[in-house]
Amino acid sequence: MSLSVKKEVILAPMAGYTHSAFRRLCRRLGADRTYSELMNATGIIYKGEEKELAYFTDEERPIHLQIYGRNPEEIAEAARRMAEKYRPEAIDINFGCSVKKVLKAKAAGYLLQFPEEMGRIVAATVEALKPLNTPVTAKIRLGFYEDTLEKIAEELLKAGVSAIALHPRTAKQGFSGKANWERVKDLKRIAGDVPVIGSGDIRSWKEIDQKFEETGCDGVMVGRGALANPWIFKEYKEKRDIKTTLKERIDFVLEELQLMWEFFEKERACKVIKAQIVYLFKGIRGKSKLNDRVMRSKSCEELIRNLESLFSICPVPTSLLRK
Ligand SMILES: Cc1cc2nc3c(=O)[nH]c(=O)nc-3n(C[C@H](O)[C@H](O)[C@H](O)COP(=O)(O)O)c2cc1C
Repeated sequence: MSLSVKKEVILAPMAGYTHSAFRRLCRRLGADRTYSELMNATGIIYKGEEKELAYFTDEERPIHLQIYGRNPEEIAEAARRMAEKYRPEAIDINFGCSVKKVLKAKAAGYLLQFPEEMGRIVAATVEALKPLNTPVTAKIRLGFYEDTLEKIAEELLKAGVSAIALHPRTAKQGFSGKANWERVKDLKRIAGDVPVIGSGDIRSWKEIDQKFEETGCDGVMVGRGALANPWIFKEYKEKRDIKTTLKERIDFVLEELQLMWEFFEKERACKVIKAQIVYLFKGIRGKSKLNDRVMRSKSCEELIRNLESLFSICPVPTSLLRK
């Protein structure tokens, strides 16, 4: 099934960060497409665990709901249930995550060692989603220990994948070294008409332009760069740097919190957003003092009071915000 991705700048999936509220705010700032955080296939089938993670609004469309698991039957069944219930634009299969817990379960990034099994998973999911007209996409790394991109791509394409997002590092590398965008270019050549999305180390709108130019890829994903600077999407659209003030960043957090309360219990939303705040304050001088205040907050009310008071106790002028 074909999926059209034409020079799109996409918010990367990031567990613990890219929930519905953050996705909505990034869409408003110009992100063209979003992905959910990864959701466990077994959890979906047996425990209905997906509720908060799968929650999205029309504003986040086009959206890919991302699933990870261990075997073709389970992933295909979880995908069918999610597609039927939520009608996303695509179901994405995660073959990249390599945190200990996931590797121990022999799922996601672990499967990079077995390209044929990856192919069977995609083929089974494509088959299960045919009646629902829902495309299946995959998010991969270069390989597990070694770069085996060609073999992985061959299996996924044969299985009928509708788009591939590549984070061009091996699982073994984790986040060390540099993302090898040359391999995004190679994948684009191999994939023919199937859209290719590159993901890794994008920190400025100029780099987005550069990656489109250099690799010919169909989409560029922004992950950690968007946590620190969600305005990157607007910067790319408007082709200019945008300097944000501390007040604008605090307002962003407060708006995100409001949106989070739609689908997160109040206190939990505050816990989740603290990690996001650390990213957003990263470039600010005196950030440790600011972070301290935020982290010390013991309740939602206290967090909001502290955020609101930050501006008055520390009116950091724009010039102090590093870009
Ligand atoms: C905190 C965090 C959580 C992530 N969670 C996911 C995830 O749920 N699914 C996924 O496919 N990739 C996940 N990733 C990988 C990102 O989508 C992305 O490919 C990677 O971070 C490289 O891009 P960046 O340098 O723009 O962050 C995660 C990355 C980070 C930093």
